[in-house]
Amino acid sequence: MASTIIFPNAAHVIQLYLQHKEIVIIADARTNGFCLATACKYIPALQDARIITIPAGEENKNLLSAEWIWMQMQSLHVHKDYVIVNLGGGTVTDIGGFCASTFMRGIPFINIPSTLLAMNDAAFGGKTGINFMDTKNTIGTFANAEYVFIHPDFLNTLSPKQIANGAAESIKHALIHDKKLWELYKNATDFTHFTNLENIQQSIAIKNYFVQLDPLDVNERQSLNFGHSIGHAIESISLNSNNILLHGEAILLGMLAELQLSETIYNCPAIVRKDAEALKNRLYPTVKFTFSKSEILEKLLFDKKNTDTINFSLLKNIAAPMVKTKVSKEQVLQALSIFDA
Ligand SMILES: NC(=O)c1ccc[n+]([C@@H]2O[C@H](COP(=O)([O-])OP(=O)(O)OC[C@H]3O[C@@H](n4cnc5c(N)ncnc54)[C@H](O)[C@@H]3O)[C@@H](O)[C@H]2O)c1
Repeated sequence: MASTIIFPNAAHVIQLYLQHKEIVIIADARTNGFCLATACKYIPALQDARIITIPAGEENKNLLSAEWIWMQMQSLHVHKDYVIVNLGGGTVTDIGGFCASTFMRGIPFINIPSTLLAMNDAAFGGKTGINFMDTKNTIGTFANAEYVFIHPDFLNTLSPKQIANGAAESIKHALIHDKKLWELYKNATDFTHFTNLENIQQSIAIKNYFVQLDPLDVNERQSLNFGHSIGHAIESISLNSNNILLHGEAILLGMLAELQLSETIYNCPAIVRKDAEALKNRLYPTVKFTFSKSEILEKLLFDKKNTDTINFSLLKNIAAPMVKTKVSKEQVLQALSIFDA
């Protein structure tokens, strides 16, 4: 069953759910320091919980950290009557959800996302997982948090770079489903609109719309992959370069290239790409594509296990996504040429 999303004015719902339960919090070293007090302020039942901490950062979303979490759960005698509370960004909600959903064949869990990216995207929708052998999210489960608690207060301690990172997914949600939100975002001169509770709620509603249509990600949900085929290839290549990009930054570049593909294949109006490029130049001036186009193509072919054509989720227009679009290698290289200038 899908997660119940709880907004600030309903924190008491989680408090009631947790108040007579044994609780174990999973946090990373930073969210333990920055977010625990805020979480306890809104949900006092968390005050006496035991805490398992992993090192911060995506590079720790791996088997070693998962094993550490399982070992701690074992030594705390966690069982089915416990609740795991994942307090952190997507790294913590992904690995925490994964460990909870596999330990003793599944311990219920709650997500308290503390980054904009996790609020908008990672903390709900049922995908949990860890990276394995240099590939993202290779091992994982479909498991829904019982509740997801959204509170913009957590964003107060988040760095501007991480806010920008999460805003890229908000931009994607607007492009694939919401003309009005896109009108607001495309003229943004800073990130204020992106961290506003109402817009976070709308972003969550858009992701939820696609997740509920297609929970197992075989059709409509793939609209959420817009920008991600090329974006993931850029992200992976960047990690071994001197221009390391965060997930959202890479996805933003991926969206620009995929808007060019959308223009070529579906006649998506050129103004959409031009507005998105202008937005990128205003809000993400330091994010640059400095990679070899052929290397990106090679990575894309490897990731997608494709040969001559690659499947993409593109746009016919704003709020008109098109999934399972076959794109040739030549078309990908041509789309990447937008970064030549
Ligand atoms: N499951 C899904 O559907 C889904 C969707 C999108 C992304 N993801 C995953 O999410 C992960 C990225 O998540 P992320 O961008 O949130 O990164 P993250 O969880 O690694 O957090 C980024 C940094 O911010 C710190 N941080 C978190 N909250 C903070 C706060 N309130 N104040 C100060 N510092 C804070 C963290 O400790 C970390 O150092 C990736 O592993 C990605 O694969 C999953």
